[in-house]
Parts: sequence; structure tokens; C-alpha cells
Amino acid sequence: MSAPKKLFIKTYGCQMNVYDSERMAEALGGEGYVETKSPDDADMILLNTCHIREKAAEKVYSELGRFKGLKAEKPDLKIGVAGCVAQAEGQEIMRRQPLVDLVVGPQSYHRLPEMEAKAREGEKVLDTDFPEEDKFEKLKNRPKAKRGPTAFLTVQEGCDKFCAFCVVPYTRGAEVSRPADRILREAQDLVERGVREITLLGQNVNAYHGAGANGDMTLAQLIWELDKVDGLERIRFTTSHPNDMQDDLIEAHGTCAKLMPYLHLPVQAGSDKILKRMNRAHTTESYLRLIERIRAARPDILISGDFIVGFPEETEADFQATLDLVEEVKYGTAYSFKYSTRPGTPAAERPQVDPKEADDRLQRLQALLTKQQREVQDSMVGRDVTVLFEKVGRFPGQMVGKSDYLHAVHVADCDRAIGDLARVRILSSGANSLAGALID
Ligand code: SAH
Ligand code: SF4
Ligand code: F3S
Repeated sequence: MSAPKKLFIKTYGCQMNVYDSERMAEALGGEGYVETKSPDDADMILLNTCHIREKAAEKVYSELGRFKGLKAEKPDLKIGVAGCVAQAEGQEIMRRQPLVDLVVGPQSYHRLPEMEAKAREGEKVLDTDFPEEDKFEKLKNRPKAKRGPTAFLTVQEGCDKFCAFCVVPYTRGAEVSRPADRILREAQDLVERGVREITLLGQNVNAYHGAGANGDMTLAQLIWELDKVDGLERIRFTTSHPNDMQDDLIEAHGTCAKLMPYLHLPVQAGSDKILKRMNRAHTTESYLRLIERIRAARPDILISGDFIVGFPEETEADFQATLDLVEEVKYGTAYSFKYSTRPGTPAAERPQVDPKEADDRLQRLQALLTKQQREVQDSMVGRDVTVLFEKVGRFPGQMVGKSDYLHAVHVADCDRAIGDLARVRILSSGANSLAGALID
């Protein structure tokens, strides 16, 4: 028998890409590939790319350039580009970087085995179609390896919202929900392989409307079905759009014990003028009322968000309104970005904010968000939380896991195993994590 071929995958961007990379590894596993952690001994290198900001896309080209020496030493090495840069730039990638043998868009991963075979014969292959079939369905029936305690599960892909800054509707296509029975089967399978916590993924996960036994289901209905899966202890979902936060989902946060008290609900900006120009279809006021209703259903919920500063025509007063909104909401975590021009999106054509000014605003926003994050984390001290242990710590007897609120928690003298859940009293709060002790 010949030695297995080695596959190196590097993943950029969002959790959807993390999930997709796992599926690609499984698909190529069926063709005799095993994963390697180093590009140096790989027979195939795949970059699963992100196009969300300009820097993310440029990183891909500089990474590809670095493989030149490797390919010269090893002419049989195949190099592929997958993900959102592949979808957005297609053939252009091969023109710009002749080292690339294969370009595959996010909707075509189930075709990777055929593409790999063609690439082996020396062909340059490209597939960036949006096919009708469910790529995940085609990718199933792979070997059932044991898994860690947490997993992602994609339930919905694509986006019809067309925020004026964003490439996702172009790279991931129109919104599509997977049928509920397939998701439930996949969840069951994950649990049998050791998973205790599942994060449901979608670019607009709360717009989920997949087919169920009695017509289309909402995300809340899907969560209640998952609630019945024995052995599954925790459910999370990301990313939500404020306008798709339906009543039954808000209610589930108060009534479904397996649904964790954490919600990522991006607002992007706090000025109604900017929100309108972003085509966000919500206002500051409607967002704040929504947060109020969510907190009424689940008072201790941790809110997380995304922000863009320096969006075209943002004034100092508009930016101040973003700071005011942050003060009012109080975020437990948040991601903030400087606006990055994406060719082909409506905002790219508009008057841009001075980059120095945008940098300054980003720093001010991040200072406030970091302060809030620390305050929320510090407020956990003295409280009891449930921790799902994910790995052993750096010190003997120490275990590390995540609380219900997604804070990292270190527990000393811990006799529990990876995958166990335990009640923990929080004793102190550090730079990026909490420390606690088991409660018997
Ligand atoms: N579907 C999700 C987010 C997808 S992209 C949602 O609607 O919330 C993740 C984040 O990247 C966005 O929330 C936004 O804050 C940021 N982002 C997207 N396009 C951007 C751009 N052109 N420049 C800067 N940040 C951007
Ligand atoms: Fe992009 Fe807006 Fe869709 Fe989110 S909702 S993926 S930001 S277009
Ligand atoms: Fe990036 Fe594509 Fe995700 S652009 S954020 S990898 S959907």
C-alpha cells in the first residue's frame, strides 16, 4: 500500500470557513489524504480564504507567494484556493499566481475529489458555480472519527441583506437553509462522536427557515428539536441579524435550558444616518428596544457585537453616536473594524473618511469596548457558572473550559475529564480569562 498523501489546510475568516475546512478534509480523506500541520510535507495545500476586508484577501496572495520554493522542490505539490476569495476572484487568482492548480468556491466543495484527480493529471481546475444540490449532503458518510466536545454545524448559508459594505451576498450567494432532518442527523452523529456543545452557523443564522416535517421551521423550532437530542448539553448560534430576531427565538432564550445565555448581535454603527446608508434596515432605537426585550427574557445574557468605524461620510458626531450606543448596551465582547473598501459593493463608490481619522476612531471605540468587556468579565467573580471542559491546562491538575457565557475558565485541582460539565465558583478575573474552583 502506498503511503497516505498529506493535506495542509489553512483557514481564514469566519466559523463557516472552519466548518467548511473540516468538510474538505473529510472529502479528501476519502481520496487517501491525511491532514498535516506543516505545509513542508504536504502533497496538497489548500487555503480556505476570506474576502471580507481588503487585508484578508491580500494575505492570501502573500501566503501563496511563500510556497514558491516548496513547489520548485516538489513539482507534484498541488496548491488550491478555496473560500470567498476563490469565489470573488476565480480565474484571476491563477493569472496573478501561476502556482495555483485549483480554485474552488464555497458551494463546490463536494466536487473536490474530482477536481483533485484532474489537478493530479496536470490540469488547472476551477469551480465557482452555485449548484442546486446540497454540498453538505454530498459530503457525508465519511469516516466517523472521535471529536472534541464542541463543534460547529452550518444550518444556513448566504445572505440577501446586501449591507452596502459587505461582500458576503456575492461570495456566498443567496440565503439557503438546510432541511431540519439533515441538521438533526448531523447533530446526532456529532453527539455520538463525543460532542456536547453545538454552535449553529449561518451568515444570517436567525433567518433560518429550513424545511421541517410540517413546513418551514424557524431557528427557535430547530433549537427545540435539538433540545431533545440526548447527550447534547449546549446549543449556541451565530451570526444573527437584528431584523431576524423573532419572538419565538427571544422566548427560547428564557425557556430553553440548553440554549446558552450568549448572543452575537451585530449593530455596526450607532448613527441612524450611517445605518441607513449601510442599508442595515434597523435603527439605533429598534436595536436598543430589541436588546431590552432579549434581556427581559434572559436578564443575564451576554451580548456581543460587530462595529465598523469610518464608513463613508461618517462624521465625528456619527461616531459619537456609536460610542453612546455602546455605553447604553454594555457589550460582553465585541469585534470592531475600520471600514475597508470592497470593490463591487455600493459603499466603495462613496466619499471615504480620512484613514487617520478612521484609525483614531477605531482606537477610541476599542478602548471603550475593551473596558466593557473587562467589566463584564470581572462581574462574574463570586458567581457560580457551568463549565464545559475543553482541554488540559498548563499546570498539573488544571483544566480549561468555557462558561455558559463563553468566558474561558481555568480550574485548578480539577479531577474532571475533557467533555465533562461541572459547576464552578468564579474566584478571580485575569486579562483574558477567569479562574474558579469546582463546587461539589
Ligand atoms: N452576517 C454577519 C456578519 C458577516 S461579516 C452580520 O450581518 O452581522 C462579519 C463582520 O465583518 C461584519 O459584522 C462587519 O462588522 C465586518 N465587515 C463586513 N464587511 C466589512 C467591510 N467592508 N469593512 C470593514 N468591516 C466589514
Ligand atoms: Fe454582510 Fe449584511 Fe449580510 Fe451580514 S447581513 S452578511 S453584514 S450583507
Ligand atoms: Fe470571510 Fe467569507 Fe466568512 S468573506 S467572513 S470567509 S463568509
